[in-house]
Amino acid sequence: MEASVSTHTLIGPFSQILTMAELSETGPIADVEMQVLENAGVLVSNGKILRVDDYIRLSQEAEQYDYTVETFEEPMVLLPGFIDAHTHICFAGSRANDYAMRVAGKSYLEIARNGGGILDSVRKTREATTIELVELLKQRCDRHLAEGITTCEVKSGYGLTVDDEIKMLEAIQLVNKHHALDLIPTCLAAHMRPPEFTDSRLYLKTILEELIPVISEQNLASRIDIFIEDTAFIEQEAGEYLLEVKKLGFDVTVHADQFSTGGSKVAAEVGAVSADHLEASGDAEIALLRDAGVVATVLPGASLGLGMHYAPARKMLDGGLCVAIATDWNPGSAPMGDLLMQAALLGAAEKLTTAETLAAITTRAARALNLTDRGQLAKGFLADMIAFPTDNYKEILYFQGKMKPTKVWKKGRPVIK
Ligand code: NIG
Ligand code: FE
Repeated sequence: MEASVSTHTLIGPFSQILTMAELSETGPIADVEMQVLENAGVLVSNGKILRVDDYIRLSQEAEQYDYTVETFEEPMVLLPGFIDAHTHICFAGSRANDYAMRVAGKSYLEIARNGGGILDSVRKTREATTIELVELLKQRCDRHLAEGITTCEVKSGYGLTVDDEIKMLEAIQLVNKHHALDLIPTCLAAHMRPPEFTDSRLYLKTILEELIPVISEQNLASRIDIFIEDTAFIEQEAGEYLLEVKKLGFDVTVHADQFSTGGSKVAAEVGAVSADHLEASGDAEIALLRDAGVVATVLPGASLGLGMHYAPARKMLDGGLCVAIATDWNPGSAPMGDLLMQAALLGAAEKLTTAETLAAITTRAARALNLTDRGQLAKGFLADMIAFPTDNYKEILYFQGKMKPTKVWKKGRPVIK
């Protein structure tokens, strides 16, 4: 006789479940607005959430299905899997030398002007094979998944030739096929003008004519990013480039206002999904982003890595923005890559509520990536879930990232047990 395959899984009981559902998409969130269900469980079917409810009630409801139970004795708090909405984790080599120069007083832009910085990672990434990039990326994904990240955006941008950008995006696509972590690829061919070009407009034209069509054909990315700064691309050429790729159906996002303002204005004008960094943003930039409905993705890891101030996250929330927090994990400005630790530190410095910080790495991070199927524990959402070894959700940020999840589920399947 064939064993019947259960169609449903009942997971629980959890001391608390933070659903992160039904929260305002923009602006401040008070902690009392967060749904905290006590002694609750989750009923999962086909990788999606069917119901989140009181555990006893859910056990009775499950009786109508052919179901299995995943249960535990220890106290645990369940949350949606974290979403890291901005990374550059497909790279080869280390920039520890840059870091040592920076802490000794040289600036990021000064190091870049002298041949270090992003172009140093470009040289090393160009030398790497696809297989080497796949292995390095896979290791970083393993670490992220173990720390509770179940969806992670990954940018190209260390190739800066048509072939090397394709190599990076193919490496991301390969890892995505085999890794439990969902990767969201973004083309950042417009990270810097490569040394082979003296004219940045000509470089962007080449990207548009020779790279973007391949990305479309091979389905290598549906998002396009650009770094707007004097040392990278200026506002006007960036705006024109983004409008062209938008016409082709890509979502756009911008590295904006990291050292000087201007990028957020372009992001608002072209209708970007998100503007990321924003350390230099002030009231005017916040108003522009709000009126255009652009998500503000702040990157505390870059502030920590560069020893500079954080983006004004409190002001952004009070100004009505949707604020996401991401690591910017990269070999240069943000080598740490610990999302929860960085979110907790930013939250403490900027006076964010627990709800605002947790929303920024779950439901609001999903918005930054234009994803509507994750980031909340509610009916129909992906069963991407993480459990922390505590009975009080406030301990998660209290330990500032040192408490790690002990269990991680991706689409209902336990991937870290
Ligand atoms: O987001 N600001 C531009 N790009 C990256 C840094 C990449 C690097 O330093 O390698 C960032 O911080
Ligand atoms: Fe970045």
